[in-house]
Amino acid sequence: MSFPACRMRRLRQSGTIRRMVRQAKLSVDDLIAPLFVVHGSGVKEEIASLPGNYHLSVDRMLEECRELHELGVPAVLLFGLPQHKDEVASEAYSERAVVPAAIRALKEELPEMVVIADTCLCAYTSHGHCGVLHGGYVDNDETLALIGKTALNYARAGADMIAPSVMMDGMIGTIRSTLDGAGLERVMVMSYAAKYASGLYDPFFKEGSESVVAFGDKRSHQMDPGNSDEAMREVALDLEEGADIVMVKPGLPYLDIVYRVKSEFRVPVAVYNVSGEYAMLHAAARQGILNLQRITDELLLAFKRAGADLIITYSAKDVARRLA
Ligand code: PBG
Ligand code: ZN
Repeated sequence: MSFPACRMRRLRQSGTIRRMVRQAKLSVDDLIAPLFVVHGSGVKEEIASLPGNYHLSVDRMLEECRELHELGVPAVLLFGLPQHKDEVASEAYSERAVVPAAIRALKEELPEMVVIADTCLCAYTSHGHCGVLHGGYVDNDETLALIGKTALNYARAGADMIAPSVMMDGMIGTIRSTLDGAGLERVMVMSYAAKYASGLYDPFFKEGSESVVAFGDKRSHQMDPGNSDEAMREVALDLEEGADIVMVKPGLPYLDIVYRVKSEFRVPVAVYNVSGEYAMLHAAARQGILNLQRITDELLLAFKRAGADLIITYSAKDVARRLA
């Protein structure tokens, strides 16, 4: 059928018919809100480059989570800011750290909420690197041992899901066997499987998690932005090692990867709409260049169209409000 019998505009003529034939839809069910937890009480300090996002002490985090829960947001992804940093990230696997405290409080207050613990060492090391350093190089297997302990620390506190972002080889296998060995086989694992060495994380580590590297960068473990076949290998390995959900990060510049992962593996795929993506949009909106709400919805919808099941975004609360 071709023109004039075929007129593509027929199905675009009203909001109602557009709504009926729309393929991809944003749903509150897909949203995961990242939260930054700090020691102390009564703390709620906005992160300048991530408007609407805060450093929260556990009590204020609970308030935030109650709001998210009422809006229907099903899950939060927790990041902790430690009191003490050292070469071996001791606070990451200490029971007295802020993340286990946040998990315990949250599971008691809002048991239905899915609590996901980001698992890496970079916020806890004095040098800001993701693991143990030898001659400036992150030692894979020594780091794995500490990542296993950290995951166990969060799972014992009651985390529903462990999300390792450390990009060490074998991280999923190590975490899965550590959890299973402790009788925690129900704890889920969401792998930061295809995590690229991106310039879009700057607002996160400069102001969000306060974990700027003292020297060098993370290119010896995060993926090179030129590669896509490598992402398929990363995902395949993580699934073999026991990942329940695989993630692509960052989001917007990597939609081709989201699409390929979904098409090739047909497993639950999460995408991380990272700090730089959010900050760029907010900076443009503040200058009156772009309409924040319209662009946010359009961009998040693009993740769904590309094949993502879950979206981790600093806009979660805003979007949930609009969807309500
Ligand atoms: C920790 C981690 C980072 C992010 C999530 N977990 C920073 C990094 O790896 O450099 C980035 C999130 C964001 O930019 O929103 N490994
Ligand atoms: Zn890290």
